[in-house]
Amino acid sequence: MNRFEQVTPRKGTRSVKWDLLKYMYKDEEVLPMWVADMDFKTPEAVTEAISKRVEHGIFGYTWPDEDVKAQIKDWIQKRHDWEVQPSWITYSPGVIPSLHMIVQSLTDIADHVLIQTPVYPPFYSVVKDHGRHIVKNPLQFSNGQYTIDFEDFEEKIKENDVKMFILCNPHNPVGRVWTQDELTKMKDICVAHDVLIVADEIHADLVYKNHKHIPMASLSEEANNQTITCLSPTKTFNLAGLQASYVITSNEEMRKKLDKQFHNQGMMMLNTLGLTALESAYKCGADWLDELLETLETNRDYVEARFHEETDTVQVIHAEGTYLLWLDCRDLGMAHEDLKTFMQEKAKVGLNDGASFGDEGEGFMRINIAAPFSIVEEGVTRIINAVHQL
Ligand SMILES: Cc1ncc(COP(=O)(O)O)c(C=O)c1O
Repeated sequence: MNRFEQVTPRKGTRSVKWDLLKYMYKDEEVLPMWVADMDFKTPEAVTEAISKRVEHGIFGYTWPDEDVKAQIKDWIQKRHDWEVQPSWITYSPGVIPSLHMIVQSLTDIADHVLIQTPVYPPFYSVVKDHGRHIVKNPLQFSNGQYTIDFEDFEEKIKENDVKMFILCNPHNPVGRVWTQDELTKMKDICVAHDVLIVADEIHADLVYKNHKHIPMASLSEEANNQTITCLSPTKTFNLAGLQASYVITSNEEMRKKLDKQFHNQGMMMLNTLGLTALESAYKCGADWLDELLETLETNRDYVEARFHEETDTVQVIHAEGTYLLWLDCRDLGMAHEDLKTFMQEKAKVGLNDGASFGDEGEGFMRINIAAPFSIVEEGVTRIINAVHQL
C-alpha cells in the first residue's frame, strides 16, 4: 500500500481536526474534513530526524544557526526560483503570529488594510484586533472562476488611503494560484500608492500541474523591496503542531521594525523539534512532496468528477493549488444556516463554514481533501447521498 493510502487513526492524539469533533459538531459520527492539516504522516526522514533529536534527551534553549537558513534558501531557490538571502529571514512560530506582528509593527492604529474576500478568516482578526480597519476588494466570481477586480483594487486603495495589502497566494479558500500578470498588476498598483504588500504564501508548495507559484517578492527588485513574505513547511509536510515558520523581508528598515516587534513579544527562537523538522523536511522532503501532489491531484479530480456526474446542485470550484476545495452549494436553495445543519446532521461531514471567510462565502462550504482516498471517497459519498435524499 502506498504511504498516502494508509489510514492512520488520529483520534486521541489531541488533534484539532479529529478530537474537537465532539465540541464543534457535537457528534462523533461526523467525518472531519475541515481544519487545514493532512491525515498523512510526515516524510519518514523528518520523523527519523525528530526521533534522533529526542533520543539526545536534552531540550535546552535552541539556536537556529546558519545551516537551517541555508536549507530554507535552497528550498525556495529550487522550488520557487527565488534567491533569498539568509539575512532576510526572521523565524516565527506560525504565519498567524507573523501576521499579527507585521500589522502591529508596520501600520498605525486606524490605518486601513486591504484583503481579497472571501479569505482565510484570521485575515480579518489580525487587522481588527489591533484597531486597524479592513478594506475589502471582493474577488469576482463568474463561470466558476475567481478573478480580481483591479479597478476596485485601486479605487479602494485610493479612497481609503490603504497602507497595507495582505495577499493570499495560493488563495485559501478559492484555490487560485495568481498568475504573473495578476501579481504584476497588483504589485504595480501597490507601488504606485505606496502600499506595503504582505504575501501569505503558506500554500506555495501545494500547486497542481499546469500552474506555478510565483512569489510576489520575486517579481522584481521593486516588488522585493515592498513585500514581506510569510512561509512555512507546516502545510507542505503536515507539521502544524510543531509550529515552525518564517518571514522574509529584504527591506532592511521594515525588517528591523518587525524583528523588534518579535523581540518585544519575547519571540526570539523556535522550538527545538520544530526547527529539526523544518530543516529535515527541506533537506529530504522533495520526492515525498512530489508524491503527495500526485495524491492530492487524484483526490481533487475525483471530487470534481463525482459532484459533476452525480449532482448539479453542488459545484466544485476548480483548485489550482491548496488541498482545500471550495464548494458552491447555492443551488441547493438553502439558507446558509440550514446548509451548515444539512452538512453536519444529514451528510455527517465536518466542513468549514463558507460564511466564516466573509459574506461572499454564504452558500459555500470548504472541504479538505488531504486524506487517504478512502476517507475522501466516504466524505463525498455522504454528501452526495444526502443531496439525493432531499
Ligand atoms: C492562508 C493561511 N495562512 C496561515 C495559516 C496558518 O498558519 P500557521 O499555522 O503557521 O499560523 C493557514 C492555515 O490554514 C492558511 O490557510
